[in-house]
Amino acid sequence: MAETPDTQADRTRDEAVEAALGKLDLDTKARLLSGQDMWTLPALPEIGLGSLVMSDGPIGVRGVRWTADDPSVALPSPTALAAAWDPELARRAGRLLAQEARRKGVHVLLAPTVNLHRSPLGGRHFECYSEDPYLTGRIGTGYVKGVQEGGVGTTVKHFVGNDAETDRFTVDNRIAPRPLRELYLAPFEAIVENAHPWGIMTAYNQVNGTTMTEHRHLVNEVLRGEWGFDGFNVSDWMAARSTTGDIAGGLDVAMPGPQTVYGEPLAAAVRAGRADEADVDAAVRNVLRLAARVGLLEGAPPVVAEPPAAVDGQALAAEIARRSFVLVRNENGALPLPAGRTVALAGAAARDARVLGGGSATVFPERVVSPLDGLTAALPDGALTFSVGADPSDELTPADKGFTLRAVCRDAEGTVLGEGALPSGQVQWIGDDLPAGVSYDTLATIEVTGTFVPRESGEHAFGTRGLGAFALTVGGTPLWTGVQEMGDEADPFEAFFGAPSERGRVLLTEGESVEVSLLYHVPDMTAAPLKAVMFSFLHLGPQRDGDELIAEAAAAARAADTAVVVVATTERVESEGFDRRDLRLPGRQDDLVRAVAAANPHTVVVVNAGSPVELPWRDEVAAVLLGWFPGQEGGAALADVLLGAAEPGGRLPTTWPAVLGDVPVTDVTPVDGRLEYGEGLFIGYRAWEKAGAVPAYWFGHGLGYTDWAYESLDVTGSTARVRIRNTGTRPGREVVQLYAAPLADKAERPARWLAGFAGVEAGPGETAEAVIELPARAFEVWDEQAGSWAQVPGVYEIQAGRSVGDLRLTATIVH
Ligand code: BGC
Repeated sequence: MAETPDTQADRTRDEAVEAALGKLDLDTKARLLSGQDMWTLPALPEIGLGSLVMSDGPIGVRGVRWTADDPSVALPSPTALAAAWDPELARRAGRLLAQEARRKGVHVLLAPTVNLHRSPLGGRHFECYSEDPYLTGRIGTGYVKGVQEGGVGTTVKHFVGNDAETDRFTVDNRIAPRPLRELYLAPFEAIVENAHPWGIMTAYNQVNGTTMTEHRHLVNEVLRGEWGFDGFNVSDWMAARSTTGDIAGGLDVAMPGPQTVYGEPLAAAVRAGRADEADVDAAVRNVLRLAARVGLLEGAPPVVAEPPAAVDGQALAAEIARRSFVLVRNENGALPLPAGRTVALAGAAARDARVLGGGSATVFPERVVSPLDGLTAALPDGALTFSVGADPSDELTPADKGFTLRAVCRDAEGTVLGEGALPSGQVQWIGDDLPAGVSYDTLATIEVTGTFVPRESGEHAFGTRGLGAFALTVGGTPLWTGVQEMGDEADPFEAFFGAPSERGRVLLTEGESVEVSLLYHVPDMTAAPLKAVMFSFLHLGPQRDGDELIAEAAAAARAADTAVVVVATTERVESEGFDRRDLRLPGRQDDLVRAVAAANPHTVVVVNAGSPVELPWRDEVAAVLLGWFPGQEGGAALADVLLGAAEPGGRLPTTWPAVLGDVPVTDVTPVDGRLEYGEGLFIGYRAWEKAGAVPAYWFGHGLGYTDWAYESLDVTGSTARVRIRNTGTRPGREVVQLYAAPLADKAERPARWLAGFAGVEAGPGETAEAVIELPARAFEVWDEQAGSWAQVPGVYEIQAGRSVGDLRLTATIVH
């Protein structure tokens, strides 16, 4: 059972919860379990209960509005946070997020995402931590502790098996008991045990034939029963589909509202004898306990009375980015760059950085420091040139640079109801998130209108994304009038974030302002379960010849001491709602790197992607730095690392393949509604080792700027001590990793698995000792016959090293 630290306060809260519950009738209880809108639960003033507000998560706190008017600190992607291999850093990230949540009136953060990197094709790979359940559990534990120390709840998600996006609402993931326990449930279990989360989010998918929101066995018996979870269970958004199935299955809250399977249908089901009022009471108790914990229930002391000391979000975002960058190749000490060198920077993403992944994890930071901004600030005047070289995207994107836009809302007669400023051409208003004075009852049209001052002369393309009827006008000339119907996309995210449509082109002159307008006819939403308007006004600047762009970048590289190329994925490659089809860098970025590397032997490539991409030229360049989605301060952190003010601190939290064809687990597409996790226990490095395959870079790999000698490993009982020496010339931090490898195995198990790790720091010539506790679970398997954990006695090799592929010391133990 998970231990609650403050039992007296817990008792007081429990009493307040019981007293409040006793005052509620069935209808009110059922109402409390149903979202009142996109993000909140109803307040019940009669029992002194405030309205609980939830918000995504996980790299920032968006708040209840999808708008840049209310900016949020954007931290690096979860893959990046995991790459720091530092639960304490994750905890500090959590504290910052709690501070952001409090600032925005949010009580529950919809995070962390602790599904596993089963396949690099998983669309939300960037949003999950790792392929390894132990590392995921440790990072998730730090994160949850940090958020909750700030008095804000978490929902560890998506419980369980949402490891890919294809048909995510319906897919039945077939997972055998051992991999389910040893891999996919393991992070949830560790976080429940060590961080005591106040919430969990149940996934869209099914596991072994049962939808997760209705999974009585996994929710009530395993999560609550075996593990002692006492938080609330909220459905993923629109995942709850059965009143009786969900309430019996242990789902407490159905989101979003106002129309859900709870509320009136739940009260009716109880009255008709189809649902048990005791189940309703249990759910209400869980919601009230959460409210008590966050300070929303009168008479109950919040867990955190005084918020912890303020955190500087900008500084922390930069620190996490520096700590997350993984230097996978550094020939002849190419990095850090020696002082006084000239740098030719190339790649569209160096100027228009992609700092975060797409979908519900999107937040709107107040500022973004691109690599170009970061290097411009850090290098002396005249030392830096920039050329686009290649653009990862040749698609239209929401109009932003050079546009000044607003949305004008009108009724059917054309009377203006209200207006809102728009940070870009993307309109995404969900629920009541409408400009002041506007309501769905009377809203007939939305006009995105304003001016555009082009950065370049030439042919500019304009277009739309979203479903419905549009009229597009540029410079007073109608470009297109028409209707976009729903295609065969199964996931609404595809429709709203999917393919852009070009609607026309106009010749424009640099610096000369033109009027633009996109009129959108709002469809009838009377019967819609969720009222929302989502569409975009899109733009693409003049497209130059690809060969010319590459030649220009190569020429600039030839003239400089060092070339830095930033390559990136786009929102159409990595996002929520769909899986990836391949691991290639989009556009002509590979050609760009090859041309620049041919022009300058001192070429450094920075990879701006949340998850693995193929780097076919990786052995032809001097250095490769994996920068993930680095958050709002990414460019500043990058300059620090390239110029040597800080070392890149990251180690791979996931195996990085050379080509997709080598990846052992790639199947993310269900057949007849089912996805077989046929690889069983073998995902990530476990699978690579079993297949005898060699990736581009092993799990755990990352170089830093100094060298380490592993001097001794001593294992006494469950404590391992590893002494290492910094043999380089700079101070550094090393992530000492321990793997357990069974010798003469009696159970079917991987060749080795991560059993512990610790970060240690040392100056040049100094030694440091990593003291690592080996958890009992490292020597256990799930016994399918007995339905319990079982120790596997035998001889194990404990291996200490820098990655799965670079093990330096071993000790043999009998367990
Ligand atoms: C995502 C969740 C998210 C929710 C609310 C869903 O589509 O799967 O992770 O918290 O939306 O935005």
